[in-house]
Amino acid sequence: MAEKVHRVVFQPDGRTLFVPDGQTLLDAARAAGIHMNAPCGGKGTCTGCRIIIPLSPPPPTETCLRELSGEEIRRNLRLACQTRVRGDLRVVIPEETRLGDQKILTDGVAREIALEPNVRKVAVHLPPPAVSDQRSDADRLIDGLAEKGIDGAHIDIRIARELPERLRALDFHPAAVVIGREVVYLDRPTAADACYGIAFDVGTTTLVGYLVDLVTGRLAAVASRGNPQAAYGDDVIARIEYCGRQAGGARTLNSLVVGALNEMVAECCRKAAVKASAVYEATVVGNSTMNHLLLRLPVDGIARAPFVAAAASAHTVSARDLGLRIHPRGRVYTAPLIASFVGADTVGVILATGMHESDRLRLAIDIGTNGEIVLGTRERLLACSTAAGPAFEGARIRYGMRAATGAIDRVDMDGERLVLHTIDEAPAVGLCGTGLIDAVAALVAAGVVTPSGMMRAAADVAKRTPALARRIQGADGETGFVLAAKGETLTGHPILLTQRDVREVQLAKGAMAAGVETLLAEFGAAASDIQEVLLAGAFGNYIRPDRALAIGLLPRVPLERVKFVGNAAGVGARMMLVNCGLRRAADDVARGVEHVELSQRPDFQPRFAEAMIFPPVTL
Ligand code: FES
Repeated sequence: MAEKVHRVVFQPDGRTLFVPDGQTLLDAARAAGIHMNAPCGGKGTCTGCRIIIPLSPPPPTETCLRELSGEEIRRNLRLACQTRVRGDLRVVIPEETRLGDQKILTDGVAREIALEPNVRKVAVHLPPPAVSDQRSDADRLIDGLAEKGIDGAHIDIRIARELPERLRALDFHPAAVVIGREVVYLDRPTAADACYGIAFDVGTTTLVGYLVDLVTGRLAAVASRGNPQAAYGDDVIARIEYCGRQAGGARTLNSLVVGALNEMVAECCRKAAVKASAVYEATVVGNSTMNHLLLRLPVDGIARAPFVAAAASAHTVSARDLGLRIHPRGRVYTAPLIASFVGADTVGVILATGMHESDRLRLAIDIGTNGEIVLGTRERLLACSTAAGPAFEGARIRYGMRAATGAIDRVDMDGERLVLHTIDEAPAVGLCGTGLIDAVAALVAAGVVTPSGMMRAAADVAKRTPALARRIQGADGETGFVLAAKGETLTGHPILLTQRDVREVQLAKGAMAAGVETLLAEFGAAASDIQEVLLAGAFGNYIRPDRALAIGLLPRVPLERVKFVGNAAGVGARMMLVNCGLRRAADDVARGVEHVELSQRPDFQPRFAEAMIFPPVTL
């Protein structure tokens, strides 16, 4: 019997496809190539995949009824991952549900390093063979390279096979491309200057690529985009679960990320007017899961006790093997991992900030779903990862969204007047992580939220701040604070900070703070001993440190000790591209850093519980 199919039209793109009866709208959107938020990976717990079915929506499932408000159900909102297609549908994907163009941080700390790339392109003039000089073509080339300072070059058999013809075609005047010591290609002498590499920071949420001229060390172009794997879950656990549940799941996630890296290669090359075939090497930093998915290594051991990665060392593989569209004989170097949840991105942060060479006690924090923390000096570095959850990326927050156009990214209080700022100064669509921290800090400071995280009833607040009290409402059985009224938003619905949202912030900041305190205890230091707090990563660089200090997300240090280091992981990848000696340093760092497994520490839970409390806040 023919399979029953239905026509689904996704708006506003108008993309139409026929989907089998019973398929979820989340899977249908993926099949249509629409990247939709799905922070929980389709478990029905995050409400990130809200869609609107304007006409004849299917009855809400139990999960939709539990997770969405009565008002949202009345407005025909449903969760895409919970709604199965049983007839023809028109589906509207609201702005906040799309994985749109979020702000991606590409800049980072700058350090001066020597230009010693692993790839060199060397023009050599070789004497043509003669009866008096019967050296083989390969020896002739190796000797020519030695004269140019490249000792011990060797020639792969594939190159040797084509060498006689190629050398003669180039009149014994080739530009030899040497990666490490291996000759991989002979180019025209006029192309001797065209030698590029690309460094990638492969994050769970965002991807950044830096095209670098390996002759001058100059940054030639930058490209970034959201990680398309996010359609299969916001955090690494959701993606690992997807791989375990779905046959071919790991292959799907691998092709998504490789496809996005190839797009970035093409974009960088277009911007810099460079041919992709002139890019001979890529370096990659990424957390352990991103590293494994890219290398097609099994990921299941990472998330299951005893949390073991398949392979933690650095790898150099051929670009062709990975499907990366640089020069077909190019190489891809992936930096080593520290532990299952402390990856090569942390190695990149350490190299970029020079923590492994510093005498001063420094703390580096990359705030994210999987927060990574490093503390120490050149003598001793400790690292841990802590499950902060996706709240700061806008997930599990009632009106949460990523840092994209229309996101409320700043909240200030002027007396009793709330002052909001949105990204691109567009009408408000939702609340992103920085706005979330600001909002909570402001409400704790105003006494609307208590130190234990309870949102006070309007009647209690009215005595001191009547204007704020008017913003407190019941929101489907829980209390919420109206940040933007419906007339002030693009969506026409108000944007509230709910009691549950405050709780999510407490869990996230509690996890980060308890991680820091555990490392401090292990190191035998106090917060006041920390000479610098380095905020790395996309999120850390947009938060206001005074607000993060106020709610206890950062340890209590004087404000001037907090420094932004930008996308330090990406800088680390670039450094390893232009100076291959740093790859040895990366190995030393990966081996030398002591990993502290928080789940095994009896002192972590009590610290976590205590760290959830808000300190007294004055702004
Ligand atoms: S609720 Fe649908 S993806 Fe999370």
